[in-house]
Amino acid sequence: MSSLLVDNIGELVTNGAGEGPLGIRRDAAVLVEEGRVAWVGPAAYAPAADRRVDAAGAAVLPGFVDSHAHLVFAGDRAAEFAARMAGQPYTGGGIRTTVGATRAATDDELRATVRRLRGEALRQGTTTMEIKSGYGLTVADEARSLRIAAETSTETTFLGAHVVPAEYADRPDDYVGLVCGPMLAAAAPYAKWIDVFCERGAFDVDHARAILACGQAAGLGVRVHANQLGPGPGVQLGVELGAASVDHCTHLSDADVDALASTTTVATLLPGAEFSTRSPYPDARRLLDAGVTVALATDCNPGSSYTSSMPFCVALAVREMRMTPAEAVRAATLGGARALRRDDIGVLTPGARADLVVLDAPSYLHLAYRPGVPLIRQVLLNGVSQ
Ligand code: NIG
Ligand code: FE
Repeated sequence: MSSLLVDNIGELVTNGAGEGPLGIRRDAAVLVEEGRVAWVGPAAYAPAADRRVDAAGAAVLPGFVDSHAHLVFAGDRAAEFAARMAGQPYTGGGIRTTVGATRAATDDELRATVRRLRGEALRQGTTTMEIKSGYGLTVADEARSLRIAAETSTETTFLGAHVVPAEYADRPDDYVGLVCGPMLAAAAPYAKWIDVFCERGAFDVDHARAILACGQAAGLGVRVHANQLGPGPGVQLGVELGAASVDHCTHLSDADVDALASTTTVATLLPGAEFSTRSPYPDARRLLDAGVTVALATDCNPGSSYTSSMPFCVALAVREMRMTPAEAVRAATLGGARALRRDDIGVLTPGARADLVVLDAPSYLHLAYRPGVPLIRQVLLNGVSQ
């Protein structure tokens, strides 16, 4: 059994026992065996190992857990972005543009995009990335989107209910029937989760409830795109169904916050979307002060948030959403793990997966303090240097 010691860690974020909300240990070392964290302690007491990574006093933290991304698509919508920056609002209407391009793409073209974006994210410290379908919206195109997503991630999400495609525009009930019937049957073998865009212009609460219930009956866990473009019933629907996460949460009532505070449903905030749609940011402070578990994710997609960078989202959350740097880093690691109901990632404690990043900086604070700077020096995935 080969072992690896990550040594000389100036500041280790464990998200477990240690100082402050990040469970910080100083002058630490981490022993990795068989892809898992085997030991964490003071560098001075580090056990011998076959190989050694010298962190040279830098900060080490759990790899980022990006619990919300739409990577299976073709084309881009740069012109739509430019129009928004010139004053056009975001409506979600551009989703159908990407659906057209995605249906016309070959499997290999879609696969290449997923791999490119997954690689981009990995270089920025993301060691787990959820991937949604949702730009196919036919039985065959949703199934192939998930088949391709499952080549890259175990955290795959069926989002056949992203929007009602143009060919069903005047008969949404029929589309909901398709999603709950043959589309779910074809998608479920490749999916762990089901998600619905519950929003005016997408799916109303009755359709969303019906679709999520079908997914649950098929063994999928629930996630919801909720309260992104305006107030609505999505968050409370997610809580009602025991969703692992409700995502966006940009427009929340006091009752929404109370409902979240009373459950284990995570509020996943996606500041890249507000950045790229020039919209008001969600109020993370209000959620944290109410005791809600918050996750940060990229929402990487060609329309509302074409970034794969978790450090960028951390910086936005600190600058624009009233999160402290510690809260933002915790949300981008442990919060994401909670949003995926995983306890083996997002922490660096014995038994956890050895998914970690070595920063080119002495402290996690630099992720927000030095925005836009490539600070990820080294990434270990399952104990293997990437
Ligand atoms: O999470 N809100 C719905 N879906 C995506 C946007 C998709 C798109 O614009 O292509 C989101 O923001
Ligand atoms: Fe999304």
